[in-house]
Amino acid sequence: MWDEGRLRYGGDWNPEQWPERVWREDVDLMRRARVNLVTVGVFAWSRLEPAPARYDFDWLDRALDLLGEHGIAAALATPTASPPPWFSLAHPGALPVTADGVRLHHGSRDTYCAAAPAYRAAARRIAAVLADRYAHHPALALWHVHNEYGTTCHCEHAAMAFRRWLAARHGDLDTLNAAWATSFWSQHYSDWAQVSTPRATQYLANPGQLLDFRRFWSDTLLEAYAEQRDLLRAANPAVPVTTNYVLGDWVPVDHARWAAEVDLVAVDHYPSAVDGGAEEQTALAADLARGWARHGARRRAGAGTPGDAAGGAAWLLMESAPNLIYTAGRMHTKEPGRMARHSLAHVGRGSRGAMYFQWRAPAGGAERFHSALVPHAGPDSRVFRETVALGEALERVAEADGATVEASVAIGWDAACGWALQHPGLPSQRLNHHEEVAAAHRALWRAGFGCDVVLPGDPLDGYGLLVLPALYLTSDVTAEWVRAYIHGGGHLVVTWLSGVADEHARVRTGGYPGAFRDVLGVRVEEFHPLADGDEVPLTGGGTGRIWAETVRLAGAEPVRAYAGGVLAGQPAVTRHRHGAGTAWYVSTRPDDDTYRRLLTDAALGAGAAPTCPAAPAGVEAVRRRSARGSWLFLLNHTDRPHRVPAAGVELLTGATVDTAVEVPAGGVAVVREDLAAR
Ligand code: GLA
Repeated sequence: MWDEGRLRYGGDWNPEQWPERVWREDVDLMRRARVNLVTVGVFAWSRLEPAPARYDFDWLDRALDLLGEHGIAAALATPTASPPPWFSLAHPGALPVTADGVRLHHGSRDTYCAAAPAYRAAARRIAAVLADRYAHHPALALWHVHNEYGTTCHCEHAAMAFRRWLAARHGDLDTLNAAWATSFWSQHYSDWAQVSTPRATQYLANPGQLLDFRRFWSDTLLEAYAEQRDLLRAANPAVPVTTNYVLGDWVPVDHARWAAEVDLVAVDHYPSAVDGGAEEQTALAADLARGWARHGARRRAGAGTPGDAAGGAAWLLMESAPNLIYTAGRMHTKEPGRMARHSLAHVGRGSRGAMYFQWRAPAGGAERFHSALVPHAGPDSRVFRETVALGEALERVAEADGATVEASVAIGWDAACGWALQHPGLPSQRLNHHEEVAAAHRALWRAGFGCDVVLPGDPLDGYGLLVLPALYLTSDVTAEWVRAYIHGGGHLVVTWLSGVADEHARVRTGGYPGAFRDVLGVRVEEFHPLADGDEVPLTGGGTGRIWAETVRLAGAEPVRAYAGGVLAGQPAVTRHRHGAGTAWYVSTRPDDDTYRRLLTDAALGAGAAPTCPAAPAGVEAVRRRSARGSWLFLLNHTDRPHRVPAAGVELLTGATVDTAVEVPAGGVAVVREDLAAR
């Protein structure tokens, strides 16, 4: 899709917020910082179409021309995440309704219902007009549809569309009733008109209804995206189209499924942690994005649609924060060097560049204190100096662009599992698929193993180990995928909560984890949710948290047992040799150190190896390879320098590395490896 060997660098540029003399300063500063891509027009609908069908494109013409003249490419956005005031006044029925039945009003952004015909028509119209005018503009490199799809709605348009979607998924009401187990609490439906979106209700809502609503809304938003994409593509098939993903438990979007519909997976990443957790979150977000991109490319290939140059699995960090980020209670400053470290961590894990929200900090508006590459203080500032330095660094490491990221362990992830575990009627409120994936990923990250994120059904060749954390929803097809892997000699770690329910969130009876009992050689009789702060000791040291289980052996051998409480002496971690493979079961959430040791044992036993075994704690190592060479990214997250064995050329300094490279405190080294010396 995009030529390899050139990383994209830039951020959201909002010329509509500034007089034109500032634009000229902007492009000069962009050149200084080696910015080569900016997102334009994301929230500019009211300036582009100030009144229905009355357009003002002059300013955008001049802005795009100015970029073009300076060799800066544009990711031109469709502005449909923020309909103008006139639209909301003319179409109050297209304003979103909350689960409580409250209709929201214009005044912020995202005030639309994606199922409302008036909104969809207006969105198609503005996308078509933009396509018509700019599809062949020389500065255009990428279409950026909308912004962070995710807003939900419970209006009557949504309810009607939900019924249509359910009829297509389940066929008839009997099947829907069975899938949602509506015999419970007198919820049996005898007419489609009785079915609605899961609005606020008296007590616990139906889990099948909640889950299907999330799936439906993901498909509805995807339909809205695809309508725009098709218009843009038709205007110039050579220009790739994407939309930026927002991450979070609240987001009703199945990003992996969407990946087959975008030409490039684009993610926005704002770590919620401010301590070392931010680096772990960064690594996971990048591995997720790469996993989604790979999954999407495979599905496209299956459908006969060719992928792109980067093995069909391109992804881009589309937004991140240069400095102040929103955290609970106050904004948090990114320490010097951290912005570059985060960006290079994304690039090391396969991003085609590093993009930011935003280029210049606005003087007004709701997010005026959100950080920017050009802060309120102007270019004479630490952040802008770091911006310039990062631009240079990205050029120096660009030769690794397009190379494959090395991974010896696969971790399973599934959006629907995350949604299903949000139901309030589960045995604990601390069940969270994403957090369980993050805990396993963190353990492997700390142990230095490269990880790929895989979706159920993805090919597993080449991985030493597959880890399935809290894969709560398991269809028969997914269970078969795991069975085939283990029969073929695979090594597997399954954690608590996996395999408990089918794809409709109905429990598989006969003992947990119903879908995996044979593979794991265990039968779980009882759950023991633990109170916040409670720990249960394990033999061999360490503790379990959140959850414990009564595990009966049915072929597996115990590896660790509970060492206290009602479960004392009973198995906590087991291993089962099954078919030609080995399957571990972990029935509690081990503390981080214990988890790291357990997964390290499982991974080493499976023949997986850490990326750079000699890298000291706190230094993240990622290797990328292609036919052109091998690159070792070393990110030092500690406050002192470290020497790491390597040989080749360090790209950021140009220095030859004979036996070891020094990675500065809080800094990065990228070594083009001398393969003969390894
Ligand atoms: C998201 C949005 C941006 C901005 C940032 C703030 O990523 O896309 O418009 O609101 O969050 O962090």
